[in-house]
Amino acid sequence: MRTAIGMTVTEHILEKQRENPEATGAFTRLLSELIVAAKIISREVNKAGIADILGYAGRENIQGEEVQKLDEFANRTIIERMSHIGQLCAMASEEDADLIEIPSKYPKGNYVLIYDPLDGSSNIDVNVSIGTIFSIHRKISSDEDGTLSDVLQPGYKQVAAGYFIYGSSTMMVYTTGQGVHGFTLLPGVGEFLLSHENIQMPQRGRIFSVNESYYNYWSENVQRLVNHFKSPDNKPAYTARYVGSLVSDFHRNLLKGGIFMYPADTRDPKKPHGKLRLMCEANPLAFVAKEAGGYASTGEKPILDIEPEELHQRVPLFIGSKEDVELAERYLSGEI
Ligand code: AHG
Ligand code: MN
Ligand code: MN
Repeated sequence: MRTAIGMTVTEHILEKQRENPEATGAFTRLLSELIVAAKIISREVNKAGIADILGYAGRENIQGEEVQKLDEFANRTIIERMSHIGQLCAMASEEDADLIEIPSKYPKGNYVLIYDPLDGSSNIDVNVSIGTIFSIHRKISSDEDGTLSDVLQPGYKQVAAGYFIYGSSTMMVYTTGQGVHGFTLLPGVGEFLLSHENIQMPQRGRIFSVNESYYNYWSENVQRLVNHFKSPDNKPAYTARYVGSLVSDFHRNLLKGGIFMYPADTRDPKKPHGKLRLMCEANPLAFVAKEAGGYASTGEKPILDIEPEELHQRVPLFIGSKEDVELAERYLSGEI
């Protein structure tokens, strides 16, 4: 593949399309339109402090969380942009209780888009990095219109996944199963340019990310695991970083190495498996992690092997450098 730092993401996707003889360009069209949506969201995020786009939208979402205006804007932008391109048979959003159907006036396609329109919403009004996470599956049902079965596919069947991170710069990181590549948005030009080719995650990190305020709600094995990461006996020692935006914590660990943990906890009996969602957060990032030489687990088994049962099902998440995540599995199994 002829790639060069600085090449545009569109050229990069077309290069990949040229590598796949059976590629019809449909996928390229899909990803290109998603990039337009992300550019629109990025512009709104970057002026959030000025426009009246901050604060709550005055309603709760399916997760029972206060919806931020920017959550709503991002969700609406993706739905509006992606519905008419004729490449999708259905969509599923963290913000919508049910499947998002493609209006009958638009042509349908052979892919499904699952996404978290804005991840890290609690950080919007304090100017901390937030992001958009996406996962793409091929349609498997025979109907023209997508069904829940097209969405509830295990993570190892994803055809693409990635995220946009709206931070000190806006970046796109994605994989189609041929490595992980990062692109940085050139302000004023509006192009994502290849800045991080074939990202490989260090096999062992020196960073652990977890919200320790939940310590007393974790299992004893999780408590022992986190105490291990804090132990002065580690050579080299670990340090703690926790942004509170999954995309930001993941992206830092992808580039520098480390483990992000959101364990199951006993705070809310209705959410025994923790806060993070399988379909629009854990699965896409698990695909990226795997392609970058990392790993993602529930603490007991690979995230990508889970057979989904519900659209908004939650899973405990241990994701990042392979050796750190495998160590987490050994602590949670009681082996150590
Ligand atoms: P979202 O804003 O899409 O609801 O996701 C927020 C998630 C994730 O981004 C982050 O890792 C986690 O919430 C932080 O949760 P705590 O505040 O419980 O640590
Ligand atoms: Mn999220
Ligand atoms: Mn979200």
